[in-house]
Amino acid sequence: MDGGEMTNNTQQRKVRVGVVGCGVVATAYYLPYLMRHADLVAVCDLYPERTAACARLFGAREQYQDYEEMLERADIEAVFVLTGPGTHARFAIKAAEAGKHILLQKPMATTLEDATAIVTAVRKAGVKALVEPSSNSPLDPAYPPLREMIERGVLGAPYWFASVATGPTRYHPSLSGNPYGEGAFYAQDSGGMLFDYAYGPSQIVTLLGPCKRVTGMATISVPRRFIVPESEYNRFLAQATDPDQANYWDVVVHMERTQPVTMASEDNVFCLFEMVNGWLGVFHVGRLFHPAHPKDPGLGLQIYGTEGNMIFGGGYFASVISTRRDLLPHVDEDGWYHVAPKGDVTKAVWPKPIPGGFNYYHASSQHLIDCILEDRDPLINVEWGRHITEMMVGAIQSSRTGCRYEMTTTLEG
Ligand SMILES: NC(=O)c1ccc[n+]([C@@H]2O[C@H](COP(=O)([O-])OP(=O)(O)OC[C@H]3O[C@@H](n4cnc5c(N)ncnc54)[C@H](O)[C@@H]3O)[C@@H](O)[C@H]2O)c1
Repeated sequence: MDGGEMTNNTQQRKVRVGVVGCGVVATAYYLPYLMRHADLVAVCDLYPERTAACARLFGAREQYQDYEEMLERADIEAVFVLTGPGTHARFAIKAAEAGKHILLQKPMATTLEDATAIVTAVRKAGVKALVEPSSNSPLDPAYPPLREMIERGVLGAPYWFASVATGPTRYHPSLSGNPYGEGAFYAQDSGGMLFDYAYGPSQIVTLLGPCKRVTGMATISVPRRFIVPESEYNRFLAQATDPDQANYWDVVVHMERTQPVTMASEDNVFCLFEMVNGWLGVFHVGRLFHPAHPKDPGLGLQIYGTEGNMIFGGGYFASVISTRRDLLPHVDEDGWYHVAPKGDVTKAVWPKPIPGGFNYYHASSQHLIDCILEDRDPLINVEWGRHITEMMVGAIQSSRTGCRYEMTTTLEG
């Protein structure tokens, strides 16, 4: 089921929403959903031409250039924070203090202090806050059954895991890091490539539980890169006429990158994670020209236990092999239990959702709306987000100090 057809109860009243950040992720994924499933009261961006385009395309009634003014004046219950990482903590704390529910794009924060300040503000205000990404999280319906299999012993005792965040490098025609967004993805306060790839730690924690210790090695290996100038996105939005086709990714990945940018934070990061349950593993993130071999469908996270393996990718969403065949829903002729591919992953231009697959932006939007209307805490809440954030903070801190990092947070708070 596509995220657009999420279990949205049409009897529900529409939650009044304001969006800060009318950038690529907002116009491609969130706003087309919110215009139908929420009351889209206001949009805010530093560029007036972006808010104007969002008012025209998605029917936002009010436009702001100043976030605090939107919080003060717009009659909204929830804020979707869709700006670059450097602003997330500040904007989330202000929203909580104003009594607004929050959807916070990843990364939640780039320091543990900021993540903790968000937790404190949200819990003090009693608002609901969902921290992205829901992709690779317990909110993705593919994950709870796999997690349960591991808990029942399908992999045996914990051994090791490995994950390489190829991200755009595998499916992206330009293959060299984000093709736009100097402020959002290259500036020092963006946190660098690791924080852009919170999906990796999220997937590990979703399947294997919380983390205990982290060791990291990180460098800025390719400090000078090229992106498409910001003005091209403004031009794209000005010409867009269909709210369901305002996906800049489809265009920008084919454009020439003419603007040099400096990579101000680590772009090549190795994390060694020791999980509470005893799993040891490595996670690498980096973005460089490194296409997968045409005949290699590519592997994601691989988990090796004493009795079985769970492998993501390789043409399937995931596959499991185990001596405990009784714990597998079925076994194919090749001896593996394969979870069917959700759409053709080899044709996807990351991070565009795979047709027919889980649309995390839509699922998160609906989950937050449901939690507001039903007065319950989101499944991926601020404590969850802080733990994921601390795993990334720990890796960078360890790489800078040369010392192992001891985690201080759990998933509970
Ligand atoms: N683009 C994607 O496909 C994608 C996918 C998943 C997650 N994300 C996350 O979404 C967030 C935004 O990414 P993006 O790709 O849309 O970036 P973007 O640069 O296209 O958009 C960010 C927008 O925020 C606006 N902005 C910045 N500071 C502001 C301020 N002080 N007040 C108001 N507006 C401000 C910018 O003008 C810009 O329009 C990031 O945290 C990113 O990690 C993006």
